[in-house]
Amino acid sequence: MSDITLNAPKLFDLTGQVALVTGAGSGIGQRIAIGLAQCGADVALLDRRTDDGLAMTAHHIKAAGRRSIEIAADVTSKTSLADAVARTEAELGNLSLAVNAAGIANANPAEDMDEDQYQTLMDINLKGVFLSSQAEARAMLKHGRGAIVNIASMSGVIVNRGLSQAHYNASKAGVIHMSKSMAMEWVDRGIRVNTISPGYTATPMNTRPEMVHQTKLFEEQTPMQRMAKVDEMVGPAVFLLSDAASFVTGVDLLVDGGFCCW
Ligand SMILES: NC(=O)c1ccc[n+]([C@@H]2O[C@H](COP(=O)([O-])OP(=O)(O)OC[C@H]3O[C@@H](n4cnc5c(N)ncnc54)[C@H](O)[C@@H]3O)[C@@H](O)[C@H]2O)c1
Repeated sequence: MSDITLNAPKLFDLTGQVALVTGAGSGIGQRIAIGLAQCGADVALLDRRTDDGLAMTAHHIKAAGRRSIEIAADVTSKTSLADAVARTEAELGNLSLAVNAAGIANANPAEDMDEDQYQTLMDINLKGVFLSSQAEARAMLKHGRGAIVNIASMSGVIVNRGLSQAHYNASKAGVIHMSKSMAMEWVDRGIRVNTISPGYTATPMNTRPEMVHQTKLFEEQTPMQRMAKVDEMVGPAVFLLSDAASFVTGVDLLVDGGFCCW
């Protein structure tokens, strides 16, 4: 029998939850971190940036009436991530939500790419997401409850026309399948794991020199004829983390303006 007293809008309420967001000093991670706070969560903000990125995120979270802590750390460091989770739990409470958005992008033809360029990107984009999810899940498994969203990319599903980034595309395909695998390992222990795969999104990542001339092409190639705004990643993240997605795990949610349909 269904429960008709269910308050549907409350399904998206994150009040009382504690989140950790990596890559929270810029772009997609920053906007999602603020969005989680606007839905009621307290948020630990992790980034390796040393500029005022994290402080800016924290400022908006305070304005939303929620608490945050700033953690300067690198997602390639297992011990830093364990410390970050411990600090989050000590200062904000039991960790129940996580978004792993830290990542880098660059390009080079495969025949020219040296091993260092390949390995550095893989270490951040794929191993970093693994180590982050592992540290977060270790805490969540103790509480028997949690939801993790890893930020992959439509580049994990398609090959971006005109961009020589075999390592990036492979890292994102890896994030998608690794997240499904972790979702199944933890499926009967209260932890859900899903991915969001954004299409072309207007963030500092797309202002790197080799990308600037591509922006117009990105808009033309996207069925909606524009790039995403970071604001448009908030709804999908809140959905996947919230009780609204209580039966959703192991899913890759493409948020791409229709890109992968064509
Ligand atoms: N912008 C896009 O078009 C787009 C599309 C699909 C997927 N993505 C993915 O979204 C995520 C966020 O990208 P963005 O566009 O917001 O880029 P961004 O550069 O604005 O933000 C990425 C953040 O991650 C941080 N970071 C990078 N390496 C780190 C490390 N080793 N440890 C800790 N922090 C680190 C950076 O300092 C930065 O603040 C990335 O995983 C990216 O691959 C972006």
